[in-house]
Amino acid sequence: MRLGIISALHEEQQGLVEAMQSPTKLTHAMREVWVGQLWEIDAVCVLSRIGKVAAAMTATLLVEKFGVTHIVFTGVAGSADPSVRVGDIVVAESLLQHDMDASPLFPRYEVPLTGLTHFPSDRRLALQLAEAGQAFLQHDLQHAIDGVERNAFALQAPRLHRGLIASADQFVGSRERIRALSGALPGLLAVEMEGAAVAQVCVELGVPFGVIRTISDNANENAATDFMRFVKSVAAQYAFHIVRRLCLA
Ligand code: ADE
Repeated sequence: MRLGIISALHEEQQGLVEAMQSPTKLTHAMREVWVGQLWEIDAVCVLSRIGKVAAAMTATLLVEKFGVTHIVFTGVAGSADPSVRVGDIVVAESLLQHDMDASPLFPRYEVPLTGLTHFPSDRRLALQLAEAGQAFLQHDLQHAIDGVERNAFALQAPRLHRGLIASADQFVGSRERIRALSGALPGLLAVEMEGAAVAQVCVELGVPFGVIRTISDNANENAATDFMRFVKSVAAQYAFHIVRRLCLA
């Protein structure tokens, strides 16, 4: 097994790279790629940057050039459901590109000529990620994130959810837009900008993948401010400890 870990943000990758045993830095396609071991597992860490093309490129490189056998994407997302709160974790069971619309040639959201709107993540990896996320919430959160920040983000009892994540080349920052999306997509839990692109690449290449996201904002008018605050102060702790739990399991 060789695990590829994609993060969209520098803050999230930093801790993982520091935890790597015998890391080697390679530069390819305008990306820094770190190859080494994470808690005894062969791993490759890379920053995708933001957006579907960047994420698809990164996933393809990881498989075709760096020989990874499994891919995990860690990052943050906006909530698409009132029961999913800032600080909660969402593990994708399936992913959809909400800006894909080739209608009337193909049904809305269907990726043309694949017959798919929803790309399922690997069941085993999704389960392992959910267990890692749950273990983080139960055992690590309390000491990994200091009390002032836990209060600032109201991280009293964050929960883990599993279900649909939708991606697009679009930061969602209005109540009207997020309501329209959740109305159109039953079971939608969160929105972000990379997961469904990684999903399509991995399904096409036959590589098991999983996506785990921490909710940084409510995809409303405050989303950009909330996102920046969350990413600056706590997102890295989530990413680090969840991957650590995953590797040690
Ligand atoms: N990632 C984190 N928050 C997001 C939002 N509101 N829209 C898209 N991607 C996000």
